[in-house]
Amino acid sequence: MSKLIFAGNWKMNMGPAAARDFLKVFLQRYKKESGVEVWIFPPASSIEAVAREVRDRPEIVVGAQHVYWEESGAFTGETSIPIIVDAGARAALVGHSERRHIFGETVEDTGRRARALLDAGLTPVFCVGEKLEQREAGHTEAVVVAQLGGLDGLNASQLSKIVFAYEPVWAIGTGKNATPADAAQVHAAIHNWMAGRGVARRDVTVLYGGSVKPENVVSLISEPTIDGVLVGGASLEAAGWAEIVAARPN
Ligand code: PGA
Repeated sequence: MSKLIFAGNWKMNMGPAAARDFLKVFLQRYKKESGVEVWIFPPASSIEAVAREVRDRPEIVVGAQHVYWEESGAFTGETSIPIIVDAGARAALVGHSERRHIFGETVEDTGRRARALLDAGLTPVFCVGEKLEQREAGHTEAVVVAQLGGLDGLNASQLSKIVFAYEPVWAIGTGKNATPADAAQVHAAIHNWMAGRGVARRDVTVLYGGSVKPENVVSLISEPTIDGVLVGGASLEAAGWAEIVAARPN
């Protein structure tokens, strides 16, 4: 693992004014450290405000929660990659479980988005994860591998630029996190999938997401296959987020 990533997914929270207030508190508490990156995924209309606040802090990456793969045109309600780049984004989430399960994002859609982001030089944060009934039926790895299928056709060099996030659906926003050992098993499956496509371990980054909080972050990032965390609820409060970002592996 080359770096430790703490990513905050604000979901449908924090307009520009709230984002600025958050960053005033957070930036005072957060000390840059080599090998550590903080990524923030605000709603689209707050990307520019966040990017402005962190313009002197290149270790803080701003990203979009969702993009459309076409560059421009008659796609009411969608946001293109050039638009988020103009606003200051360098990354975007792809295939978050809420996009897959509430908005019907398909495996093919996730592939189109990831490809378009890579073509534009942005980092896709490609999210995968099983539902509770799928885990209970013993289908976790099969579900994750099927979701990874969206990336079929990408070469090793393209794949190595993707950051993965394993987020079991049953752990998102529920207060129940996967144990580090459970997560490690799925992370290992993602590593194997990448190895099968010619990507070296050092070029694979897999975050864990799902009810990460100050109390469990250290045990999760101490697991060698967990390269960082993707945090929803606990990334919304500046002091708590600063506490999470200050965590280091044991
Ligand atoms: P949570 O969300 O931390 O609130 O569980 C994680 C996510 O959806 O990325």
